[in-house]
Amino acid sequence: MATGTGFHSVQLVEAGFDVVSADGSAEMLAKAFENGRRRGHILRTIQSDWRWLNRDVHGRFDAIVCLGNSFTHLFSENDRRKALAEFYSALNHDGVLILDQRNYDAIMDHGYSSKHTFYYCGDNVEVRPEHVDEGLARFQYTFPDHSVYHLNMYPLRKAYVRRLMREVGFQRIETYGDFKETYKETEPDFFIHVAEKQYREACA
Ligand SMILES: C[S@@+](CC[C@H](N)C(=O)[O-])C[C@H]1O[C@@H](n2cnc3c(N)ncnc32)[C@H](O)[C@@H]1O
Repeated sequence: MATGTGFHSVQLVEAGFDVVSADGSAEMLAKAFENGRRRGHILRTIQSDWRWLNRDVHGRFDAIVCLGNSFTHLFSENDRRKALAEFYSALNHDGVLILDQRNYDAIMDHGYSSKHTFYYCGDNVEVRPEHVDEGLARFQYTFPDHSVYHLNMYPLRKAYVRRLMREVGFQRIETYGDFKETYKETEPDFFIHVAEKQYREACA
């Protein structure tokens, strides 16, 4: 999901996975396809909105990967629930959803700072929040040619995303902080949720 420019698709294909690349934007899929082609891969692309994924995508998958702080683009709770339910449904019975998000809790509760350890958008791109409250995180991106872009995102709290995942049926959710299992809540720039579909009966 959220193929974007195809960075993760290419990495996954090169790691040997059988990958289908989905995105709601035909323009992004065209970019991803071209980026894949330049690296010698033919990406299998599908244009689909997460909210009605199973209308367009009929297979079942071992993993659904939604990275790059993409889930933050949904502004209504109904849409977030629907998208997660569609991801759940597109998974095999023992499949996993891997979804990441910015650490908005730290930004909202303690202000913005970034170590830029794992995620960045190039060495010369400056990112800073312009406005943050419980309903909107607006970021400004300044590029080396001085062009400036603004992005409105929904500030997802970590516990909220985990709760929604549980409510749509995911059984076990592990949340890593910048890829580490243990961390201080305020430290990571990004959280990575790994949500398992497999139902495990509770031991008596
Ligand atoms: C931040 S970009 C993804 C970047 C990419 N995953 C990466 O990490 O390099 C977010 C992508 O999500 C897609 N997107 C946003 N909302 C969507 C939706 N409701 N359904 C499908 N794709 C959506 C956008 O078209 C965009 O390509």
